[in-house]
Amino acid sequence: MSISCDMLVFGGTGDLALHKLIPALYHLHREERLHQDVRILAIARRQLERSAYLALAERHCRAQVSRDDFTASVWQAFGERLDYFAMDASQRGEFVRLAHHLGQTKGRVRVHYLATAPDLFEPITSNLESAGLAGDNARIVLEKPIGHSLESALSINAAIGQMFPEPRIYRIDHYLGKETVQNLMALRFANALFEPIWRSGHIDSVQITVAETLGVENRGSYYDKAGAMRDMLQNHLLQLLCLVAMEAPVRFNAEAVRNEKVKVLEALKPITGSDVLDKTVRGQYSAGQIGGQDVPAYYFEKNIDNDSDTETFVAVKAEIDNWRWAGVPFFLCTGKRMASKRSEIIITFKPVPHMLFSKGETNRLVIRLQPEEGISLQLMAKAPGKGMQLEPVELDLNLIHAFSSTRRWDAYERLLLDVIEGDSTLFMRRDEVEAAWRWVDPILRGWESHYRKPRPYPAGTDGPEQAQLLVERRSRQRQR
Ligand code: BG6
Repeated sequence: MSISCDMLVFGGTGDLALHKLIPALYHLHREERLHQDVRILAIARRQLERSAYLALAERHCRAQVSRDDFTASVWQAFGERLDYFAMDASQRGEFVRLAHHLGQTKGRVRVHYLATAPDLFEPITSNLESAGLAGDNARIVLEKPIGHSLESALSINAAIGQMFPEPRIYRIDHYLGKETVQNLMALRFANALFEPIWRSGHIDSVQITVAETLGVENRGSYYDKAGAMRDMLQNHLLQLLCLVAMEAPVRFNAEAVRNEKVKVLEALKPITGSDVLDKTVRGQYSAGQIGGQDVPAYYFEKNIDNDSDTETFVAVKAEIDNWRWAGVPFFLCTGKRMASKRSEIIITFKPVPHMLFSKGETNRLVIRLQPEEGISLQLMAKAPGKGMQLEPVELDLNLIHAFSSTRRWDAYERLLLDVIEGDSTLFMRRDEVEAAWRWVDPILRGWESHYRKPRPYPAGTDGPEQAQLLVERRSRQRQR
């Protein structure tokens, strides 16, 4: 069981807190993974009685947690840990009141989870410090995106770094808490099979796709300023790319793993100026249908500008300039309101050097993150009957079946427990975030200087066809 602590959730009435953090803490409580003395304090501006907040949190938790796992008695016991505090977090004076509310608890770990917009990171951190709430036992958790550009990320990191030393800063990217994402490390570094062929001599290309059917929900005002590049690609997709491409760390600890990831980010080939026209595709969904339901165009969604040109889809052909990966394109692609929810990494191997049979396809390793976790290897086999008729067949590893007796943890459960226990292996270090922005920034600038409206794609489809062309161009090159 973990250690005792106060968990303060700033942005306590927001989507993230209600949809993810409270349900994750509920699960941890239910499985007795939280010390009995862990207290949770949700903080937000809205004036609510504690009982009203509990009712709000319960409603959301019920909706998120499976029927079997949600019981009134467990909720009631969990609710005893949960409190609510209304305050305006931009006001320094309010933090004195907060400190008073928390009381003196010398030596007790305090986790300040900032589930807020990034422009509140600096004021909240500095207000925490001035109220004496940033001492040696305090940790701060920041949600991505850290800033909206390299410059803003540098400034946030510098300001927070003055109040909290790096080992007490936890920059969350919830993709790193997903089981299959961690399995990627197990696949690569606990099996001798793949390492010798995990390089440009054998791998032709890598595709990393995170497709969602969801739109922007209640987050229109944030999303319209961020877009798919800042919301997803700068963090989640680049983290996945790092795990596919990094060298084996010397050990599985925070510094060693993060050192290797930074090296990958630093080796990304810059995409500058008019390169963006060749190597990136921006898209925005127009009206369409998902699951038989009509879906409005992006610019008709709540809190979105009618003439918004924010991208809800982005595809980028990335390249890594190092010995292992020179010449191997990494196609990164993510979008909202697409045909299906699908997150996967496809590693396409090179063709055999000399094909003996009439039909042959290249081997592919598919690592599925969502919705069904699994890994499959596509191999060529002879179809029964006369003649050497080849067909691709799948060697399938279904992780849900393989570990069917174990409940799959949500990413936030794992990550929240790591923060409480002080393990930052699955969090982003300052230089990692900055290196990611250093690569993304020139693309954003290129989009401005070589402006093109985002390509429309009907909701419920696979995105603009230009993105498919990026990948197809590669297949044609291979066939030449
Ligand atoms: C978040 C993004 O970080 O990840 C959201 O801000 C996105 O826009 C979400 O919907 C996707 O996460 P998951 O775990 O559902 O793939």
